[in-house]
Amino acid sequence: MARTYWWKEAVIYEIYMKSFKDTDGDGIGDIRGVIEKLPYLKELGINCIWFTPIYPSPQVDNGYDVADYYGINEAYGGMDAFKELLSKAHALGIRIVMDMVLNHSSDECLWFKEARKSKDNPYRDYYIWGDPKEDGSEPCNWANCFNDGNGSAWTYTEETGQYYFHNYSYKMPELNWKSEKLREEVYSMMRGWLALGVDGFRLDVINRIKKPDAFHDLESVNSLGYAEGGKKQCSNVPGFEDIIHDIAENTWLLPQYDAFSMGECGGVTSENALRYLDPEKRVLDTLYHFEIVSRKKEISLRDYKRIEAGWASLMEKGVWPIQHLGNHDQPRLVSKFGDDSTEELRIRSARCLALLTYMMPGTPIIYQGDEIGMVNTYFDNIKDYNDRYTVGDYMERRKAGMTHAEALFPIRMASRDNARTPMLWDSSKNAGFTEGTPWIKVNNNYPRINAELDRSKPEAESVFRFYQKLISMRKEHPAVINGDFTMYLPDDDHFVVFTRHDPQSHEILLVIANASSEAAVLPEIPEPAVSQKNHETLISTTGNDFEIDKDCSSPRTFLPWEAYVLKI
Ligand code: NOJ
Repeated sequence: MARTYWWKEAVIYEIYMKSFKDTDGDGIGDIRGVIEKLPYLKELGINCIWFTPIYPSPQVDNGYDVADYYGINEAYGGMDAFKELLSKAHALGIRIVMDMVLNHSSDECLWFKEARKSKDNPYRDYYIWGDPKEDGSEPCNWANCFNDGNGSAWTYTEETGQYYFHNYSYKMPELNWKSEKLREEVYSMMRGWLALGVDGFRLDVINRIKKPDAFHDLESVNSLGYAEGGKKQCSNVPGFEDIIHDIAENTWLLPQYDAFSMGECGGVTSENALRYLDPEKRVLDTLYHFEIVSRKKEISLRDYKRIEAGWASLMEKGVWPIQHLGNHDQPRLVSKFGDDSTEELRIRSARCLALLTYMMPGTPIIYQGDEIGMVNTYFDNIKDYNDRYTVGDYMERRKAGMTHAEALFPIRMASRDNARTPMLWDSSKNAGFTEGTPWIKVNNNYPRINAELDRSKPEAESVFRFYQKLISMRKEHPAVINGDFTMYLPDDDHFVVFTRHDPQSHEILLVIANASSEAAVLPEIPEPAVSQKNHETLISTTGNDFEIDKDCSSPRTFLPWEAYVLKI
């Protein structure tokens, strides 16, 4: 079967099942909840769902600790429910992308339970083992990034007197991609999912699967005595692309499938992206990077424009970008990049950020709840947090002598739980997420922000209706998908201005957005609008049409987050 590259036209919706919709009252979302909400997703217009891991798992990292790569978590409804979902989604034209966690498993995975038993166990080389140093300590001094256990990236096993390696929790041992047996097992497991009908994979931290040849001590240790930076040592180790290429050739690139791959890749920039995305090398179809979306980093508008322009310039080499400003690992995009200080600004900034995401080249991803402008959730009690990073950072800060408030309040903005609190469906108990006790607290702003309310608002005030319109524009205007990209005003601190020009249909779309919380004067009318004075407003964050005076000369003041797409 020839590849159709369907993902270029797709709009992906990311579902964090645990927090999406609970139908059996146990406080965690489930597959039946997704089935119930398929009409909602269809109405929104998306045509692909990416599920974060829904395999059996002890949930140390909410599913990124996989205990059985062949199954579906019973708490979510198990395999029969999944098959039903797959067929119902497909019947609606919605594709399903599974998360593949190939860097580590859970320590409760059969593979690891076997591997730890003895040095000659058939599964032993599925994992990475190291001998103690002479003093009995870990093979090297790296920290695990969740700061759990004793804080080290190595955990000792009595059975064989060796340590196993884990960049994340000690409950998440890392897989050894030097093992031929592991590779064969993983490939056959992935082919099993493709044969079942899934449409592709999101590949967790895939550019970390190759480890350095030796594990050396690093300088500068944290308060637990271990050196952070182990993850970096394992990122983009030369030759990792050959492993991904091998996975690709044995799974999603096989001719009987028309499947897609999206890597999660830290440390990738538009300068080095061809290593991962050059179509001739047959590595990944696309990836998401952390140049813009990064939990702890702030980014200036100039940098945002520079980075987007860098990625757009790769499209002529066949690179296909992903566009998103949030996911399950990030603060809510409105709270981070927009403005949630008033209702008016929340709505207008949510709409403006959506407009930019959808008009930039590439495939957009919506993270659940962003389509109604959900915002961050801050808890005062550390016990209400579930995110391993937040809990680990807090403990470390407390150990370093900070008070509770000093330790917690500055790190709340970066907590991954901001995005993981339950979806806000309506104004009933627990925002309509569950009849039971939710596994993590619901944001108490739900009487003001919820899907039912948002959808009942006039079009000019609804975030959902705005996303819906952007999605339909993707179908109606070829320039949105195929258009060339030209950036204007790269050094302006308020405005993002660019065109998308489709050479085949000659369609030109002009985007003008005040991406800031200040009213600002557009310094100049971009040239395409000057030379062709006819323009039609396709969409705007205010609901108004763009007015431009006849000679294009008078200054035009934009409201905060006022933005337009014009067809010129
Ligand atoms: C990236 C995932 O998105 C994140 O949620 C997870 O904690 C780590 N990888 C480890 O699997």
